[in-house]
This record gives sequence, structure tokens and C-alpha cells, in this order.
Amino acid sequence: MANRTALDKTQPDWWKQAVFYQIYPKSFQDTDGDGLGDLQGIIKRLDYLQTLGIDGIWLSPVFASPQADNGYDISDYCAIDPMFGTMDDMEHLIRAAKKRGISIIMDLVLNHSSDEHPWFLEARKSRENPYHDFYVWRDGTPDTPPNDMQAVFGGSAWTYVPHLRQYYFHQFLEKQPDLNWENPALRNALYQAIRFWTDKGIEGFRLDVIDQIAKEPDRKITANGSRLHEFLQELHREAFPQAGIVTVGETWSADIDRARLFSAPERKELSMVFQFEHICLDQAGEKWDAIPLDLPRLKDCVRRWQQGLHTEGWNSLFFNNHDLPRIVSRWGDDTTYRVASAKMLATMLHGLQGTPYIYQGEELGMTNIRLPITAYVDPEIHNLYRDRLAKGVPEEEIMQSIWARGRDNARTPMQWNTEPFAGFSTAEPWLPVNPNYQTINAQAALDDPDSVFWYYQKLIALRKRYPVIGRGDFTLLCPQDTRVFAYVRRWNEQKLCVICNFTAETVPFAVPEDFDGAETLLANYKDTGAMLRPYEAKMLLVTAP
Ligand code: GLC
Repeated sequence: MANRTALDKTQPDWWKQAVFYQIYPKSFQDTDGDGLGDLQGIIKRLDYLQTLGIDGIWLSPVFASPQADNGYDISDYCAIDPMFGTMDDMEHLIRAAKKRGISIIMDLVLNHSSDEHPWFLEARKSRENPYHDFYVWRDGTPDTPPNDMQAVFGGSAWTYVPHLRQYYFHQFLEKQPDLNWENPALRNALYQAIRFWTDKGIEGFRLDVIDQIAKEPDRKITANGSRLHEFLQELHREAFPQAGIVTVGETWSADIDRARLFSAPERKELSMVFQFEHICLDQAGEKWDAIPLDLPRLKDCVRRWQQGLHTEGWNSLFFNNHDLPRIVSRWGDDTTYRVASAKMLATMLHGLQGTPYIYQGEELGMTNIRLPITAYVDPEIHNLYRDRLAKGVPEEEIMQSIWARGRDNARTPMQWNTEPFAGFSTAEPWLPVNPNYQTINAQAALDDPDSVFWYYQKLIALRKRYPVIGRGDFTLLCPQDTRVFAYVRRWNEQKLCVICNFTAETVPFAVPEDFDGAETLLANYKDTGAMLRPYEAKMLLVTAP
């Protein structure tokens, strides 16, 4: 199979055929021996990414930042944090990636800045300061915040500044004050920063918590405020006038109707959104409270999104990112059937319509980690630990939640080889390497034709080769089956059947008759049997006029 078909990026919607790869730069590759990943490290690994066959990199934030929330607290939108390198390194990365047909998509945090951003330093000087209104302030007294709104990472969403006798609003950490999108001057300042990057050759943006920019704290509204769509249309008009810029909004609140509004091309808002309905199905209320995945519910959810946006919007496809635990540990089996289940999950996802996103290490089947509380870095984990201990939850139970759901599961260093620190760094990394790097690493995967890596490479190539994957419609098979996820995609004369056993059992499954004699495009077992073996997955194709 051809290794890679370059996309024609002069097509404005090239991203509909693309596969993206998310890099969390702090954990990807260190080259200067400080235990932290850097831009030169990404440049060093471009060959690896080209071999995988991806078309674009979503780069988690590399902007100047005090790193209170790992870069999602930006103190200068037009500067590179020295921890990651220099502006020259960034320009070099953009050029070197482009040469390989890889676009760079930056991660923009437009809902809030760092409290160390010069705008905020000015804003808190006085109520009359021209930057004061770049943020969201309300009057108050030291013990009466404007209301009882809570921040996502715990505690009040209001922080008092005594000399102003005002509170500022923050949906996340106290060090992440919310920007005031009601102010046109603020919006313009952001558009200018965006154009700074498109001028440098950046080809798209992932927009952090973008559904929260139109907050209305007086009505306790965070997501989907009444001016949200108006703001997004202005953002599109003012900041992304060039055709071909891809935008993907992070929208925890989006349902299908809302996602259609965001991604319908004629509305000129966003290319697509990350919605989280599927990934929240195995939790009861809060993400820390895990419940078993009910497969029929997952299948119904996928069906609704596939059918709901078909021809009317666009889906993003993902199981993993820097905020989510590793999918093979979550819905697969990260011990006995690690390889088979990682491939099965990939098959289920990469057979769908939409733009797939692979999170670093997912293509190796990297797993969750279990650390003692003191070894975690993520402030969200520590806030949870403190809050639940205070509420009297037993420590063992809290640790189970963190091991299953903590964000640091995804943030452990990339496992490159069997050298010390997995070839990520020559120094002790900022977060421990998963001890399983001796067996799970990129070098071992590249050397093994049956690895998860080469399976992902084939899935990416299949999407380029068979238009039915990118364009076909979607029919769910056996909706009530609690063990098998199977569906059919159809486009013109091509018909694709994707069959996935989500369990460690051997189960019966009747392939639809119209797939008799079909070609097997890909499978995670070498031969075919009458039954589906543990985590077996396959993709069948028939071409009939
Ligand atoms: C998004 C990011 C997450 C960050 C939060 C606040 O959810 O993905 O990592 O902590 O926004 O910026």
C-alpha cells in the first residue's frame, strides 16, 4: 500500500480528508536535557510523523506562559515560551513540517489569559486603566463574591482584588482570568495575535473552551452565552479570512444541533468541534466517578452524531487528548489484549466520517500510569484530592479515581526506545515515564510489522485511498448487541463494513450477506474465523456498480 498520498491543501476543505496528530510538547521529545520537551524535539521527530502518514499537527500551547495550567495560561500570544525554544525554532518547525506535507495547527486559548499577561497586569492597576475592561470585573466586598459560581478546577470562580474593591471572574484557575469578549478592543487584540501566526504559515487553530467565551456571569451562564455565534462569526471574518484555515473548537457543551451551527460551512463559524458526549458515557455525573461503558449507548451516540452531521456539518473523531485517560486502559484491555484492543478501538474510530485526531502515544498503545499523589503535577488532580479528602472520601477511593481519570495519565513522556527515560530526555523528566516503556516504545513498534503503529499507518492510508471512509453515509448494525460494534458505510459503488468485538470473549457475529466475498481491507487477526475472537476487528469492502 502506498505509504502516503499528499493532500491537495489548495482545496479550502482539505482538512476533511486529513488526519491530525496532537503533540503535547512538554512530553514529546526533549533535546536540551532539561527534562522538558521542546520545539527542536518535534523537528527531530518529523520523520517519524511522516512515516505514520499524518497531515497536520495540533500543537498544544507553546506560547509564553507561567505554566500554571501547562501553557493554557498564556502571558504573551505572540511569543514562544523559552522552555520550548525560540521564535526561530518555531519558524523552523513550521517550514520543516510543511516540506513534509504536515500543517501546524496551534492551540489558542481565547477564553482567558494568564494573570501575568501584561493586559491583566494593567487591568488590575485601576478601574480607569484602558485594559481594565479586557477582563470581567464585578463589585463586591471581601466576604461576598458576586455569586456562588464555582471554577472548573474547584473553588470560587471569583477572586477579590482589594485595592479595586472588585472581583475578577475565572472559570478555571485564579491564575487564568477570563477575557471580556463584550469589549471590541479585546476582540481586536486577539484577532491581531491570530494574524501574527497565520502570517508565519500556521494553517489552523484548535480553540480552547471556545463555547465559553460569551459567558454571562450575572446569569450564571458559562457555555453558549447569547452572543456566542455572533462572536464566532466575527472571529471567522476578522481572523481567518484566508480560505483553507482549519479551526476546531473545544466545546464540552455541544449537542448535535449546536455542533451543526458551529460547523455548517455556510454559517462561517468553525470547521468542526470536539464534542464529548461519547467520551462521557462511562461516568456518573463527575468524570471521576467511573461506571462501566454500556456499548449500545455508545453505538447509539456515534450513530446520532454520524447521521446528524452528515452533509450538514463536520465531525471530529477522537478518543484521546491531553485531558483524557488513555483509551486502551479505558475501553480496551491494557494487559493481555493491549495490542488487539488498541487496534480494535482504532478501527472503530477510523472507519467513521470526520477528521480523526491521534494523541501522541496512542499509535503505540500507550497506557495509563499509577503514581503516588505526590508525583502528580496537574493542579486538577491535587484540587480533587484535597476536596474529596476534606469531604471524608477514603484515600484509596480517591486514588482509584485519579488512576482511572487523572489528566496526567495522558501527559507522561512519549516512549521512544529502551534508553533511560525512554529516550524522551537525558534528564529526569518533569513527570515520570511509564515503567512499561521497556516493551511499549516507538522503536519496538517500528521494528514490528504487527505493531499498533503500523496498524494506524494503514488506517490513515485507507482513508486517503477509499472515499467511502471520508464521505459515506452511516448505518448501525445490531444496535442492541452488547459486545459487538458494527456498522456499514456507503458511498457510490463502495460499501464498507466495520466489525469490532469490544470484549475479551469469543462471540458470534453474522456478517451481512452483501459482504459475502468482500475484500478484507484490514484486520487485527491474521486469519478469519466463524466467531469474533477477543477484541477482533476488521474492515470489509465491496465494490458493486
Ligand atoms: C481546556 C484544555 C485544558 C485546560 C482548560 C483551561 O479544557 O484542554 O487542558 O486546562 O481548557 O484552559
